[in-house]
Amino acid sequence: MIRAIVHADKEWGIGKGNGMMFSLPKDMKFFRETTMNHVVVMGGNTLRSFPNAKPLKNRVNIVLSRGQVRDDCVIVRSYEELFKAMKDHEDEEIYVIGGGEVYRELLPYCEEVLVTKVDAVGGAEVFFPNLDENPDFQCVDEGEPVDDNGLTIRFTRYKNLKTRKL
Ligand SMILES: NC(=O)c1ccc[n+]([C@@H]2O[C@H](COP(=O)([O-])OP(=O)(O)OC[C@H]3O[C@@H](n4cnc5c(N)ncnc54)[C@H](OP(=O)(O)O)[C@@H]3O)[C@@H](O)[C@H]2O)c1
Repeated sequence: MIRAIVHADKEWGIGKGNGMMFSLPKDMKFFRETTMNHVVVMGGNTLRSFPNAKPLKNRVNIVLSRGQVRDDCVIVRSYEELFKAMKDHEDEEIYVIGGGEVYRELLPYCEEVLVTKVDAVGGAEVFFPNLDENPDFQCVDEGEPVDDNGLTIRFTRYKNLKTRKL
């Protein structure tokens, strides 16, 4: 199954300055536990945004990039190559982990989207598509408000009513 996982502010903002807008330890823990030992798919900017631009441990990292050359993750050079790499893992849990460009392109193929909603406005430069305005998506789990480092977050889940096949 293909899922996207993201945290977004009240305006569906997800990042600025090629980084995160908030420090959210509980959300980080949820992200780590959810994706651990599975396959993660990301764009080149998201990989560069990680500490020392290193891939995530104990996960298969598939990275869409025109320019990067490295042997510590699977680099794919086009969406065609990306879809092929994802098909090679289609019996596994695949998580699309960002950023804006990759979420936007892969959203139709995601059966579910796990959205951590942050009750704040972070001044984003990069946004996730607003799923509340997308008739193809339905919120099936609203989550309880949780305090995370002084901010209120909710772990929500959306289902794609029209999932496209790879
Ligand atoms: N809130 C969250 O949960 C969350 C999660 C992840 C990321 N983010 C944020 O999202 C932002 C980054 O998002 P973004 O939209 O700038 O970038 P992105 O989606 O991470 O990556 C874009 C990159 O993907 C590669 N790419 C795109 N189209 C391609 C194609 N057709 N063929 C080959 N490669 C292609 C290029 O990489 P190269 O430049 O390497 O060639 C391009 O620069 C950051 O602020 C990050 O912190 C937020």
